Amino acid sequence: MSQITLESKYHMPSGYEIPVLGYGVYQTPANIASEVVQHALRVGYRHVDSAVAYRNEAPSAEGIKKSSIPREEVFFTTKIPARQMNYDNAKQHIENTLKVTGLDYVDLYLLHAPYGGKTGRIGAWRAMVEGVEAGKIRSIGVSNYGVHHLDELEAWIKETDAKEGKGKGGVLSVNQIELHPWLARKDIVGWCKERGVIVQAYSPLVQATKLNDPLLVPLSKKYGKTTSQILLRWSLQQGFVPLPKSVTKSRIEENANIYDFELTDEELQKLDTGVYEPCTWDPTVSRD
Ligand SMILES: NC(=O)c1ccc[n+]([C@@H]2O[C@H](COP(=O)([O-])OP(=O)(O)OC[C@H]3O[C@@H](n4cnc5c(N)ncnc54)[C@H](OP(=O)(O)O)[C@@H]3O)[C@@H](O)[C@H]2O)c1
Repeated sequence: MSQITLESKYHMPSGYEIPVLGYGVYQTPANIASEVVQHALRVGYRHVDSAVAYRNEAPSAEGIKKSSIPREEVFFTTKIPARQMNYDNAKQHIENTLKVTGLDYVDLYLLHAPYGGKTGRIGAWRAMVEGVEAGKIRSIGVSNYGVHHLDELEAWIKETDAKEGKGKGGVLSVNQIELHPWLARKDIVGWCKERGVIVQAYSPLVQATKLNDPLLVPLSKKYGKTTSQILLRWSLQQGFVPLPKSVTKSRIEENANIYDFELTDEELQKLDTGVYEPCTWDPTVSRD
C-alpha cells in the first residue's frame, strides 16, 4: 500500500488505466473551472471528474488543454444526466461532450444514476457501447448503482454477448458511489471487487461535514496530517479511487499529499463504523 503514489494507476476491465486519485469538479463554477483544473494538474493530479450536470465540462477540458500536459496523460470523465437516461439522449450527450470540449475522446463516460427504468438504463448503456465502438469513449461505467442495478446490467451484457458476439454488450469498468467511513457499502464494493470493476469514491471528504470528528482528530495528531488527508488515506487503503473536490488552491495541494503515511489495520477497523449516513443523494436504493 505504501508504494501507491500520486502517479499510480489501476487497470480497468476495458484494458485502459485510471489514475488512483481524481479531482472532482461538482459545484465548481464554470468561470473558475479552467483555472482550478490547471492548478490541480500543476500539482500532479492527472484525473478530472466532471459531468454534464455540473455545467463545467467545457472549461474543465479547457484547463486540461491549457496545462500543456499531453492529452493521453490526463484522464477525463463525464456522465449522462441522471434524469435523461435513454438511448437517444445518451447519444446526443456523447456527441455534445465532444463538441463543447473539443476533445477527440472521453476517457470514461458514466451513467450518472440508475434512473429511467430498465429500458432507459440499458438504452443509455447501449449508446455508450456504440460510443466506444466509434472511438469516442475509451471506457464506460455507471454511478450510484446498487447491487440490483449491477445484476441487471451484468445479465444484459452476458445475454447480448451470447447473442451478438463477445464484447457487444460492452465492458463495465467503474461504479462511482458515495463512500467514506460513515458509508462503507460493503455489498456494492464486494460486487465490484469480485469482478475487477473499479470503485470510485465520491464525497470522500463527506463534503467537509466530519472534519472535527473524534474518530479522525486523534489520527490527524498522530500522523501530523489533516483530517481530510486521513479520510483520503482511508479511501486509498480500501482500494478506492477517491475524487476529492476543492476550489481552494492550498486544499487542492493538501488533498494530493497523502502518500507518505499509512493507517494501521487497527485504525482502519476503528473507522469501520457500520453506519449508513449518506451526505448527499442515494440513488443506489432506487427501485425505479
Ligand atoms: N456521481 C455522483 O453522483 C457524485 C455525487 C457527488 C460528488 N461526485 C463527485 O465527487 C467529487 C467530490 O464530492 P463532493 O464534491 O460531493 O464532496 P467532497 O470532495 O467530499 O467535499 C468537498 C467539500 O470539502 C471542502 N474541502 C475540500 N478539501 C478540503 C480540505 N482539505 N479541508 C477542508 N475542506 C475541504 C470543499 O471546499 P472548497 O471547494 O471550498 O475548498 C468542499 O466544500 C465531486 O466533485 C464529483 O466529482 C459525484
